[in-house]
Amino acid sequence: MNIEARQRDITLPEPQLAQIPITANGRSVLEVLSDLKGGLVGLYRDQQFYEEDYIVRSFLGRKFITVLNTSLIEHILLKNPGNYQRGTLEKTTVQPWAGDGILASEGKTWKKQRKLSEPWFFRHKIDQFASPITESALQTAIDLDAAAKSGESVNLAEFLLGFSRRVIARSLFSADIEPHFGELREILDQVQQRMARIGVLDVLGFGYHLRRWSPGEAQKLNQRLRNIFDPIITERFDGRVRRNDFLQAIVDTNDAESGKRLSRKQAYDTAISYFLGAPEAVGFSLVWTFYLLSHHPDIQERAAAEAQEFTLADPTIKSLGSLEYCWTILQEAMRLYPPVHSLTREALGPDQFGDLKIPKRSLVLFPIYAIHRHSKLWENPNRFDPDRFSKSRRKQSDHLKFMAFSAGPRFCIGRSLAEMETKIAVASLLSRFRFEPDPDRPVRELEARSTLRPKDGCHVRVSRR
Ligand code: HEM
Repeated sequence: MNIEARQRDITLPEPQLAQIPITANGRSVLEVLSDLKGGLVGLYRDQQFYEEDYIVRSFLGRKFITVLNTSLIEHILLKNPGNYQRGTLEKTTVQPWAGDGILASEGKTWKKQRKLSEPWFFRHKIDQFASPITESALQTAIDLDAAAKSGESVNLAEFLLGFSRRVIARSLFSADIEPHFGELREILDQVQQRMARIGVLDVLGFGYHLRRWSPGEAQKLNQRLRNIFDPIITERFDGRVRRNDFLQAIVDTNDAESGKRLSRKQAYDTAISYFLGAPEAVGFSLVWTFYLLSHHPDIQERAAAEAQEFTLADPTIKSLGSLEYCWTILQEAMRLYPPVHSLTREALGPDQFGDLKIPKRSLVLFPIYAIHRHSKLWENPNRFDPDRFSKSRRKQSDHLKFMAFSAGPRFCIGRSLAEMETKIAVASLLSRFRFEPDPDRPVRELEARSTLRPKDGCHVRVSRR
């Protein structure tokens, strides 16, 4: 089935994946790389990605393995994760900013970071995030209302990314961050743009080293971030200020091995890791959700009815359980448009899966976008059908084919928080507003940067209910 056929199958105007037609199967790595000139979205032009169990290519003596089958996902991510580390692609984009924090570290350092962080995300602890989330959702509703009054369509990407950045800023630093919010937004835009500059050399694993030799621009941005965060972190370390927030939890945590508090550098790397990883994924999961809802008024109305039944004052992880239908919609949106659209891993030693030999240094790609639309894994893969995530239709065996939050020991630590955040945003906005597509500014193209986004924003008409 080619892209045109896949697009006919879909029930809404599907953004274009590619301007160029799909080439024949069995392309060489060089042909694939030439597709990547236009960005990572080129990866998904390969018809085989939607039909095969895995694809193996070799280049310069190195194997490139694309994983499209749940048994192989299970083998690498769940049964044998110790043999694979994050690929250089992820390292290249994240490490210059997040240092030795949980996002970019490996081995012992990562294990320590993960162990430290896990208690902050236990389900019963997540409720403390509800208040900054609800406040940010209310602020977004106020901003959206003002913009909607102009009668023009609005770019949801601006509003929803603003929402998720505000949530993480307030959760980590309470009101201490408020005076810096404007500057922070500007710096983050630049950091995200730099993180998004992924080229052929990065995919081949050389970019990391090249960027380490020319770090000038990154250093300047890092310094500006430090100028904002360091004084806030120092006040907490000195005990001059105490707050009931995420940074306080980081500062108060003792290292299990040494019994000592984290160093200031460790606290900074930890805080910045959350700042960089979370907001884009949350923001774009919401953008795609509202994009799909704007094209499906019947589904939107059913979700709005559920949202209006929900009491938004003081929500908890338990009370949010009643937003069952909204959650199926969010998951289905993340299936069709996974914000984190691909993962890479690198084999530390040789491995074998059936007949497939995986030599040391092989680069393994998990193209989540393609796994989520794979013809062997999903019925009507391109159809927007939230009910496939309903309790009655979901099967236990399905869990590895839905990879939006990854799988195995490095799966998204913030998954429950993301569920809380996206449910509150959807309930707050859907209970107040109706969303319709802007026929003059349809989403035409996807852009796969570090997150998957509509290339020129997502313009919708918003009206009060
Ligand atoms: C819809 C929202 C989100 C999506 C789709 C998402 C997805 C992901 C994915 C795919 C990974 C990669 C795991 C791997 O390499 O195997 C990841 C890692 C991570 N996520 Fe999320 N995420 C979301 C929200 C959040 C939030 C709200 C937080 C915390 C505030 C968060 C914190 C992290 C961290 C710290 C990691 C690194 C975990 C590790 O390496 O051990 N994420 N996320």
